[in-house]
Amino acid sequence: MKSFCVTTPIYYVNDAPHVGHAYTTLHADVFARWHRLMGDEVFFLTGTDEHGLKIAEAAEKQGVDPQALTDVTSQRFKDVWAKLLIQYDDFIRTTDERHIKAVKAFTKKIYDSGYIVKDTWEGLYCISCESNYTEAESENGLCPIHKRKLESVKEDNYFFKLSEFEDRLIKYYSENPKWIEPETKYNEAFSFIKSGLKDISITRSSFDWGISVPWDETQVFYVWFEALINYVTALGYESDSSRFSNFWPNTVHLIGKEITRFHCVWWPAMCMAAGIDPPSKILVHGWLLVKGEKMSKSGLNKIDPSELVDEFGLDQFRYLLIKGSPFGPDSEFSYEELKRRNNSDLANNLGNLLSRVVAVVHSKCDGISPKCSSDSELKQDVEDAVEAAVLSWNNFAPADALEAVWNMIKRTNFYLEKYEPWKLEPGDRINAIMGDSLEVLRIVSILISPVMPTAACDMLRRIGLKIDLKNVDFNEEIRWGQYLGGVPVIKDVPLFARIK
Ligand code: ME8
Ligand code: MG
Repeated sequence: MKSFCVTTPIYYVNDAPHVGHAYTTLHADVFARWHRLMGDEVFFLTGTDEHGLKIAEAAEKQGVDPQALTDVTSQRFKDVWAKLLIQYDDFIRTTDERHIKAVKAFTKKIYDSGYIVKDTWEGLYCISCESNYTEAESENGLCPIHKRKLESVKEDNYFFKLSEFEDRLIKYYSENPKWIEPETKYNEAFSFIKSGLKDISITRSSFDWGISVPWDETQVFYVWFEALINYVTALGYESDSSRFSNFWPNTVHLIGKEITRFHCVWWPAMCMAAGIDPPSKILVHGWLLVKGEKMSKSGLNKIDPSELVDEFGLDQFRYLLIKGSPFGPDSEFSYEELKRRNNSDLANNLGNLLSRVVAVVHSKCDGISPKCSSDSELKQDVEDAVEAAVLSWNNFAPADALEAVWNMIKRTNFYLEKYEPWKLEPGDRINAIMGDSLEVLRIVSILISPVMPTAACDMLRRIGLKIDLKNVDFNEEIRWGQYLGGVPVIKDVPLFARIK
């Protein structure tokens, strides 16, 4: 059995999740579901990042204890993920005892190998990013991402000797040209490394909302240095060697482009310093924008995913987000566009195909489904679509996979319009047309199931099938010719409502 591990960033709990977080987490979920459908052994990890100044600041503003704030907000993430039917295998919180233990073990290893030294840290810092900036990167003293004023800081801290990993990183990048995708992000990170790396400050002495440094209790770890370690904590680093060796380093990290440097430069060097392999793949995606601006917790443009689920429906929202904002580039997120796509792709294309087929089977075939034929004119189209969808899934391009499926749905609608079975007399011709259309619906259900798990089950139920998608042999099930018919098809309300 193949193993597949996928992670999301662990989100800061200074505020509730918005559609930007849902975008990454939903992609992780559909990749995990696709691999489960392939029969792989899957581990899908998400969680929350709970230490550092940003959280301490948010707690202070609300007049609560940081731990109390993180308990409440972390739960808000869990609630939204439950509402979106996100099927994670583990939810890690950086205040978990297991994480604190793993961070101490991981950093102690680096310390004992001589890669951590004391020095003075001085620079400009954005609390919202939890990241420092050079004068040149700042925009008139403001953070280029959050537009908030950068703080000047000076402290005696411990430093990680990132500079000593330049050559090893260059070698790793040269030998693994596909380890970061898209290629533009690989190139950016690679040039950053080649332009020379500076050592980085990894601890703080000016506040205490963090994990204390095992060899110096007067300091806590800088939130990023500790947060990255969550990925291995959850996989059983120094606590469950069988899980760890099963999923590490064969892990795919999904991240937004603003945290590339931490993941693509620091993290592999930290792994090397601790004596483990870097992760096998990092997929970097762009931002959801609202009128050109990044949707963000601190901004006024954040949209609550739960509200969209209430408005559009669960499977609809999952489809609209995956199809409407392809994984990779920045994309403008708009309500109008969600509505338009809901009505065209879901109500008019897929919903209409299903209701037409069910209606004709009822009016012309006594409600009992005919069998599909082995040599339908739809067969080749369907086989091509299946091949294209599988390829896209394997390339982490679910929007393209859906595109291939929707082409097949559209062609099937054309096919029905061409033969107009609703005008034919009951008989072999109608039976063949309806059996073949039902076969398309069966195959569509399987292919859309990672994105639309409940709609897929509902479609199968309506066409009279009891397929347990959790236990299918995909390669067997996806072949044309398996709709055997002879079962009642079920009339029901439209699968997808139109939104006015
Ligand atoms: O950076 N469009 O947490 P965070 C697309 N705790 N994705 C978006 C987005 C948008 N507008 N806004 C947020 C942190 N995201 C750290 C991570 S990992 C060891 C520590 C998603 O709460 C995207 O995945 O700021 C982005 O990278 C992540 O949320 C940042 O979440
Ligand atoms: Mg952020």
